[in-house]
Amino acid sequence: MAITPAALAAKKSVDVDSTKGIIYTKDEPGMWDEKVGSHAPIVEIEGNKVTLTTDHPMSERHYIVRHTLVTADGQVIGSETFYSNYPEAVSSYELPAGTKGTLYATSFCNKHDFWVTEFEV
Ligand SMILES: [Fe+2]
Repeated sequence: MAITPAALAAKKSVDVDSTKGIIYTKDEPGMWDEKVGSHAPIVEIEGNKVTLTTDHPMSERHYIVRHTLVTADGQVIGSETFYSNYPEAVSSYELPAGTKGTLYATSFCNKHDFWVTEFEV
């Protein structure tokens, strides 16, 4: 499903593959082909803890703004906002009991747009 105002209003899940030019992924980096390694959020899972890392420099003019962790049906498990003076863009979340299925890790760069890593738990 493409991102449309109606889909967002209905909070239906979004097909990341149909969002070229809006959402960037490791497999669909679009114009940011050379930016994958420093923008697609890296996901590490230890038990019920999920850690998101964007391996990106943090400077006053260019930095990672925010992470979120979202379920396929749009429940936001957690989010963290970063500022340019943060040393790194790393956030951790505890999964609610019984969480299973597809999750989306998001990372937003102030210059290189919105990135999503889809993964399963
Ligand atoms: Fe960037």
